[in-house]
Formats: sequence, C-alpha cells, structure tokens
Amino acid sequence: MKRRVLAIAVACATLGVAVGAISVPTRSRAGIVASQNEIASKVGADVIRDGGTAVDAMVAVGFALAVTHPTAGNIGGGGFLVYRPASGQPVAYDFRETAPAKASPTMWMPGGKYDPQVHHNSYLAVGVPGTVAGLHLAWKEQGKLPWRRLVEPAIALARDGFVVSDGLSRSLRNVQRQMAKYPASVAQFTKNGVPYEPGEILKQPDLAKTLERIAASGPAGFYEGETAALIEKEMLANGGIISREDLKNYKAVKRTPVKGTYRGYEIIAMPPPTSGGVTMIEALNILEGYDLKKMGANSADAVHVMAESMKRAYADRAKYLGDPDFNPKMPVDMLLSKAHADELRKTISLKHTAPASPEKFDWPHESDETTHISIVDGNLNAASMTYTLEQGYGVKIVVPGAGFLLNNEMGDFNAGPGITTAQGLIGTEPNLTAPGKRMLSSMAPTILAKDGQLFMVTGSPGGRTIINTTLETIVGVLDFGLNAQEAVDAPRFHHQWLPDEINYERHGFSPDTLRALAQRGHALKEGGAQGVAQVIIYNAEDKVLEGGTDRRVPDGAAIAVPARK
Ligand code: DON
Repeated sequence: MKRRVLAIAVACATLGVAVGAISVPTRSRAGIVASQNEIASKVGADVIRDGGTAVDAMVAVGFALAVTHPTAGNIGGGGFLVYRPASGQPVAYDFRETAPAKASPTMWMPGGKYDPQVHHNSYLAVGVPGTVAGLHLAWKEQGKLPWRRLVEPAIALARDGFVVSDGLSRSLRNVQRQMAKYPASVAQFTKNGVPYEPGEILKQPDLAKTLERIAASGPAGFYEGETAALIEKEMLANGGIISREDLKNYKAVKRTPVKGTYRGYEIIAMPPPTSGGVTMIEALNILEGYDLKKMGANSADAVHVMAESMKRAYADRAKYLGDPDFNPKMPVDMLLSKAHADELRKTISLKHTAPASPEKFDWPHESDETTHISIVDGNLNAASMTYTLEQGYGVKIVVPGAGFLLNNEMGDFNAGPGITTAQGLIGTEPNLTAPGKRMLSSMAPTILAKDGQLFMVTGSPGGRTIINTTLETIVGVLDFGLNAQEAVDAPRFHHQWLPDEINYERHGFSPDTLRALAQRGHALKEGGAQGVAQVIIYNAEDKVLEGGTDRRVPDGAAIAVPARK
C-alpha cells in the first residue's frame, strides 16, 4: 500500500501536479457508478453486476436517488442524459420539464408587476415533470434488463426504509420550516413534526406505491391513471395549472449531442434546451489557444484566462440560448465553432480583465441543488446524467397520496417580456415562458472520447456554476494531469459574465494568487463549495476505470462494480 502511494506521489510529481491533495481514485475493470449517494451508487453497481448496461444502471440510480436523496433525486423533476455506447453513435435524452398549456410569458407579473414568489415558490412554479418519461425512453432504447428490475430497488428503499445519514438528517432539518405549510411534506419527511435523527429509518410508503405503479405500467404509471389524478387534484385545489392533459402530453426527446474537441479529445455534451454543452465547449475552444499546463494549475495566469473565457461564453449564453423548438434560429454552430472562439480570444488581454459589456443582461434565479451521476459499465458503455427539482426539495410540495416532491423549474424561465433590469431581472426573448416550452438550463452532463475510445465522464450540479465546474474537471485532467479523484478535489472558481467577478472556493487559492488576479482588475468574491462533480476516467493503458466522487458534500460514492454472483 505504502509503495503504491509513493508511486502515485512520484508519478504526480513527474507530471508537475500542483493542485490540492494527492488522492487515489476508485478503480475497477467491471464498471463504476459515481453519485451523490452511496446507497444509490450501490444500487447501480448491482445492476451492472447483474448484466445491465450503463443506462440500466442510470435508470436504477435515478429512481433510487428519488428515495434516498430527496433534495434533488426525483421523479417530479427533469434532466438530461448523455449516452455513449462503446460502439455506435452517442445520443442525448432531454427530459426537461415543460410549461403547462395554460402558461404565458406574463404569468410571473400578476397585476403587471414581477413577483418572485409566484415565479419560484408557488404551485405555478411547477413544470410538467420529465424524469419518468426520460428514464423510460433511455431504457427502451439502450437498456437490457427488465424495467421492473430497475425500479424495484427504489420501491424497496421507499417501502422498507433506509438509514438516515447525518447529512440527510441535517438537510431535512434545514428544510423543515419551508415545508411546514404542506402537510403531506411534513408527514413524509418528519416523524409527526419531529426531525429524523441520523441512524433512524425513513420509510416513504406513498412513494413506494407510486414507484410500484411506474414499475408495473412504465410512464403511464406516472402520467396517467392514479398518479396523474393525484397531481391534478393537488393543482386544482391550490391554484396550480398542470392538468392531466399536460401530463399525458409530456414527451421526452431524443436529441443529437453537441460536439467539440479540446486538445485532440472529443467532447460529447448536452444540446439546448440546456446551455451547458454549448457554453462549456465555447469556453474550452477559447482556452485551447493557451498553454494552461505551462501557466500551471491554480496560477493567476491560468485562472485569469479561464475566467475571461468563461465570461465571454456566458455572455453568449444569455444572448442566444433557449428551447430549440421555440428558437429555431439559435446560432449553435457559430457558438461551437473554433473561428468564433478565435475571435473572442483576440479580445482577451493577458494583463487585464476587460469590463463586462454594458448591455444589461442577467440570469433568472438558479439555486444550488441538483445532482449528477456518472456511470461506465464493464463494456465501456458510458452514461452521464444530471437531473433536478431546481431548488433543494423543489417547491417543497409532496403530492398528497403520491409521496413525491414537485419541482419549481418554471423559475428557470425569464421573468417576463421587456423587464430586463439593472437589478438582475431578464426579459429577453429566447427563454420567455410559453405553453409546452422547456426552460433554459445550465446542466452539462458530458462524455469525452479519444481516438474513438471512451476517455472521461463528468458533470455536476450547481446552477450556473455547473458549466464551469464541469469545465474545470476537464481542464484538471487534460491540462494539469490530475486523476479522476484529484480533478474532483481541485479548488474551483466561477465567472458568469455578470456580475463581473470571480467567485472562488474558500481555502482554494493562495493570497498571492488572489493579489495577482486583483492586479489584473478582477473583482474577487470568496464563497463556499462549488458543485458536486462525479468523474470517471478510462485509463486505456492499464485498461482500468478510475472514479472520483465529490467530498465537498456528505454521502457520495464512486462504487466499483462487484464481481458477478
Ligand atoms: O437547470 C438548471 O440549470 C437549474 N434548474 C439547475 C439547478 C441547480 O443546479 C441547482 N444545483 N445544484
């Protein structure tokens, strides 16, 4: 063991790694499942052990997280899944929530005045959920094991309960006040109003029944019949507008991933309606023109050019991106092109930051609760999925009798037409609310390949920081030579154009680095943890998978697939 640690230390020293601690990743030849919850990661690893594909495992993990990680795991939300089979074409599954038929661009301006409560924290804030349809579509096309086998572990966890961790206990305690006005939420997540202590068992019988309907009938078990009736009843009783028709009409969409290259590696990422893939590839294209390795990880030079690249890519994000079905003229090819990056790079000075353009754009509110899962099976099929309820525990409303939380994803639409303000509201066209429309996201599930072979799976939660966290894992591996765990551990920072500042993680950067950045004109803001990345790398030389899970939060795990029973 000692010798191995020494060998790794020597290898890292040779590579010139200068970031964070030296860490050992999880290693496996049979597959790795990395998620924010150990119980769910094990569920996924068992699916692969039993002969399932990476997508089979993702479906099982998706349902398990809806039980064991209720802050973001969900069946009442939505997300994106990118899949790269070991042979054949990569595909992307879009199961973003949609606006209900009765939605309108001005619905967040009752009486003509924008109301953030209605936009983010009301029954109107709930989008038509996509997760069940999305997982089912991916399974139908890429799965091998029976659907029921993949939902069953979640049913058992909901029905029989699971041990509440210290992290979950704290999280449930924190959200208690916001859930207080919803009796079904209080009933599900407290013991008659008393918070769960670590070590106690949390059972969710109504959720078990809903999952059972999904296991038996697929999406119809959610979008039709009893579950749909329970959702509609809750909506009608509380001024919500999601109808049974909206639910029945929901469709997950198969899309072609957006692609780019970075230093000879192929980037396969999620297309709009998330901005994640396009914005990240755009920033990487700009960065390709710099010798980041020479500048050095965490150096002021590297942070400067990375922040300047992020800033320019995020400005384009705000100007151009939204639901492609409603914005047919989005210039995605231009944004992804090396030529566009070359033009933007010309505007970057190595000596000084350029002030953000005076155009007044800002972003709709996005919170920091979502979750990412990276999975590779023993045949090197790779799946990368980020899904969310938007804020932690979504809108905090459990559907009575159905046992699952609803999202508040409608908050990702812009505030209303023509109300872009200096205070940060945005009223630009591409992401205004409209019936059936998908709200713009930042989620960026990503896969990298090299010479036709899988290389890396990555992604993270974190609202607008998602794009930069994911980018930093890629730069960490490709430019700075980090392994999967080190790339996750490395300190993070974020620039999103406006506000015109670099947010950096506490303890991550030395005072002299920060001073050197300030001298270049950067406003700097210290913050807490940024993102929760899950990374898997395929080491082709040793023919081994290496996984890293994010230890900024409790309960995550990159689990090696066990040998077949
Ligand atoms: O789709 C989005 O980009 C946001 N609704 C995601 C929210 C989020 O990531 C919060 N994260 N940790």
